[in-house]
Amino acid sequence: MKAPSLTLAVHGGRAVRDERRPWPVWPVAAPHASAALDAVLHSASWAITSPYRSELQERRFARRFAAYVGTRHCVPTDHGSSALLITLESLGLRYADPVLVPALTWTATATAVLRAGLVPVLADVDPATGCLDASAVTAEPELGAVIAVHWACAMADVPAITAAAAPLGAPVIEDAAQAHGARWQGRPAGSLGVAGCFSMQHSKVLTCGEGGAVVTDDADRAGLLQELRADSRRYRTHPVPGELPLQETATTMGANFCLSEFAAALLCAQLDILDEQHAVRNGNYEALGRLLADVPGVRLLSRNPAQDRLSLYEVPLVFDPLPPQRTNAWVASALTAELGMRAYPPRSPLSRSRLLAPRLKPTLAPLAERFTERNAGRRFPGAEYLSQHAVLLHHSAFLGNEEDMSDIADAVRKITRFIAAGRSA
Ligand SMILES: Cc1ncc(COP(=O)(O)O)c(C=O)c1O
Repeated sequence: MKAPSLTLAVHGGRAVRDERRPWPVWPVAAPHASAALDAVLHSASWAITSPYRSELQERRFARRFAAYVGTRHCVPTDHGSSALLITLESLGLRYADPVLVPALTWTATATAVLRAGLVPVLADVDPATGCLDASAVTAEPELGAVIAVHWACAMADVPAITAAAAPLGAPVIEDAAQAHGARWQGRPAGSLGVAGCFSMQHSKVLTCGEGGAVVTDDADRAGLLQELRADSRRYRTHPVPGELPLQETATTMGANFCLSEFAAALLCAQLDILDEQHAVRNGNYEALGRLLADVPGVRLLSRNPAQDRLSLYEVPLVFDPLPPQRTNAWVASALTAELGMRAYPPRSPLSRSRLLAPRLKPTLAPLAERFTERNAGRRFPGAEYLSQHAVLLHHSAFLGNEEDMSDIADAVRKITRFIAAGRSA
């Protein structure tokens, strides 16, 4: 360990990390990504609605991602948000049915519910893991569905949540936008509920810039999902060169949430390096755990022992206790200054998020009213705790080596010592 300057970098002291040592850049393009994109560029087939020439990249990615997640089917989409929307639409619920959503998640988990004509009912999370707990489901008198979000790097206990939701007849959707490749007793995230929804947006561990996918074992649901994301059209079983690969089956009414062929080709390439990246990140995460073990006042997020593989999306460092004058936002800026890498607090719980405001959309007025009624008086101490005590690091920081982990641990130690000493500057 280096002897750190006692003055924090945020107060003008020398930073733990030399700024000439850059952090890994994200995203990391797979070695063959350029060739894959170039092949699409010259293929005369840029979309799944292009005249058919040969197997679509989108079909290839669907096959490969379903195999990765261990499900029978995958329907790619343009965003994780639309993956959630069409999955909710595939459930056949009635207008304004309540859908349980954990309070600690990105706003899209809840806005997808509203876009589907349903009402998000916010539930607290377990402060140990940041995920929905089965007891939150048991407490509800009625539910149309439950969305279990795998948060940051922890998985929700989907089998227990499914058992708790069964008496209500409520199916469980996994929001696995942050959990590609995580496993629960050997079963991949996304394969545990009736369907799993993924985001392939820029910051995610598998990315093409903007993209998404739904995985499911249910063939009927997969067919519906195809229509819901391609204006009521499904793939032809045997497309003929020159004709459109989609046919107008129209058993439901869809919209256009299709993934482009460029994005699908890029995802195929990126999928080839995902497990190598998991191995590097998870090794570094274990090293960081060891380095922080003797640092009082900070801990890594707890993991349910049933989760046997991590997929690090964001790594929460939980600072407890924090004295009243020190917020986690302050800790985040102090860490950012020490490391030259952005550390940030989690978003506020959805119960007080500015981004979840259905009343601002006149066409949502009836749902907005029910949303306010259904969530009045609910409390979220678990979500509040993490939103006020955690500081997040992006997974790209874990793609380097143990020296990087030492820098993180040194910076955390320097800050916790400063806090423990009760100093103001
Ligand atoms: C938990 C969660 N759900 C849904 C989404 C939405 O995905 P997208 O941004 O691809 O629409 C995200 C994206 O950050 C997310 O983190």
